[in-house]
Amino acid sequence: MIPYIGGKCQLAPWIISNFPENHLQMSYIEVFGGAGWILYKKEVARLEIYNDLNSNLVNLFTTIRDNYPAFSHQVEWSLHSREMFSQSIEFFKNHQVKFDIIEALNYAIMRVQSFSGKGKNSWAYIKSPTSKNSGTWAPFLKRLGLINARLKLVQIEHLNYAKLIEKYDTPNSLFYLDPPYVKAEHYYNNSEVFFTHEDHFNLSRILYDLQGKFCLSYYDEPMIRELYKDYRILTKTTTKSSCGVTKLSKRKVKPKARELLIMNY
Ligand SMILES: C[S@@+](CC[C@H](N)C(=O)[O-])C[C@H]1O[C@@H](n2cnc3c(N)ncnc32)[C@H](O)[C@@H]1O
Repeated sequence: MIPYIGGKCQLAPWIISNFPENHLQMSYIEVFGGAGWILYKKEVARLEIYNDLNSNLVNLFTTIRDNYPAFSHQVEWSLHSREMFSQSIEFFKNHQVKFDIIEALNYAIMRVQSFSGKGKNSWAYIKSPTSKNSGTWAPFLKRLGLINARLKLVQIEHLNYAKLIEKYDTPNSLFYLDPPYVKAEHYYNNSEVFFTHEDHFNLSRILYDLQGKFCLSYYDEPMIRELYKDYRILTKTTTKSSCGVTKLSKRKVKPKARELLIMNY
């Protein structure tokens, strides 16, 4: 597991507990996979598909699954260091994505060694002597074997959500969807990943015609309530994970958010 903006690490138990009772006998399709927190935390189902339009994520997980000895060797011989982090940030500037191990290593360094997985110029260092963490890289190395084992039977896809749903929709499919949230669509957009305001409407139309079951995450927004008013909706209040709250920031309390879970079953 890697830190990722919008990752469902904390909410995973609640989300998984609301999957259909027989979900392990269904095909499980994670449409907007991101760091794959739900997939990693749930029990193994008969057929599992991870999908994301981001090539770096797809390359990282495919490398961990299919080239584990070489990748874990590279991770073991890399450092939790400001220099390596800066080099990885530089590596991705004006860069055409390649599908290889060096790409995967640099992406892992950039995500794992940054504050809250944000990448950019914020190397995750520790200031307080009472902090329990001794750097984020060593724990990542420890988790790597688990990620490799969990991915062994997972089919990895790299498709736009509409195409993916069309390909995998059957009466025995369970789709978990965690799209970019309303007003935060741009968070994940880059030269290859795109999700616009119009996509929220398009997604709701596709889900309306679905043969299988779906479980969908969103923040509580009037527009989303309206789009999915015919479905069962559960709510949960959460604390936003980092939200720029540091010792130096003016805001001292992390803001709350209301998560929705929308289901057609
Ligand atoms: C909110 S994040 C998912 C986080 C994930 N549930 C987790 O726990 O890590 C949304 C993901 O959707 C992906 N995405 C954005 N637009 C997409 C599209 N059109 N098709 C497929 N994936 C897309 C982004 O790259 C991003 O990783």
